[in-house]
Amino acid sequence: MNKWGKLSLGMLLVAGLMTGCGNNNKENNAATGSSANTNSSTASKTLTLGTSADFPPYEFHKVVDGKDTIVGFDIEIAKQIAADMGAELKIKDLAFDSLLNELSSGRVDIVISGLSPTPERAKAVGLSDIYYKAEQAVVVREADKDKFATMDSLKGMKLGVQTGSIQEDIAKGIEGAQLTSLGKISEIVLQLQSNRVDASIMEGPVAKSFVKNVKGLAITDAKPEVEDDGYVIGVKKGNDELLAQVNKTLTRLNSEGKIDEYVAAASELAEK
Ligand code: ARG
Repeated sequence: MNKWGKLSLGMLLVAGLMTGCGNNNKENNAATGSSANTNSSTASKTLTLGTSADFPPYEFHKVVDGKDTIVGFDIEIAKQIAADMGAELKIKDLAFDSLLNELSSGRVDIVISGLSPTPERAKAVGLSDIYYKAEQAVVVREADKDKFATMDSLKGMKLGVQTGSIQEDIAKGIEGAQLTSLGKISEIVLQLQSNRVDASIMEGPVAKSFVKNVKGLAITDAKPEVEDDGYVIGVKKGNDELLAQVNKTLTRLNSEGKIDEYVAAASELAEK
């Protein structure tokens, strides 16, 4: 039995655990725990990562050795980029819809957060090569699995989506849909559990992780279509040096088969 079943948690506790007890703007030092300055070009180099750690298996909170830690396959990639640069990785857990602004204003150096490339985003920031691909999924209460088996069946329904995500755009394109846009995926899950929304659209791997860990949810056969089904890393517009470094690390990780390895390990960790 997994930890959710064992504890038979109340909904609030589930939300608390999945959001790292509500620490929205928490900073973690992934490597050593020592804090450093934010400038990535000084002698003691720091690479500051901006991410929204509500997204298992990409980035999520997990108690490791009794300590709240941000883990996930995006984090493993970030560690590799930092290592290749000889920099210390610092992680900022932020609201997803604030990430690209934080990048443009220089408060974070890179964004790795299951970020999908869109033409709009490509105008605002620098985007790396695609490092992973996944499909979109529709999550509902178990009893509604067959009722929402097609995208058409979502017309006029109440949909929960993450603020500023491409899923919000997908939902906006569904005729008559009533949107509830929220900051954290766990909040959307609560809305589903408490009958305040009918369905949610999220990345397939994230959907799978939540359905495994939270009782009473299911993934339907509906297949949301997106143009760009891959994930990229964001850097500040014009920071071509860092972008080249990021792509170089991604090429290395791909050729070593590391990314699939990280995905598998993070998916396992998300289920424990
Ligand atoms: N792939 C979607 C997007 O780029 C959602 C990403 C959400 N990421 C997160 N860590 N919550 O809009």
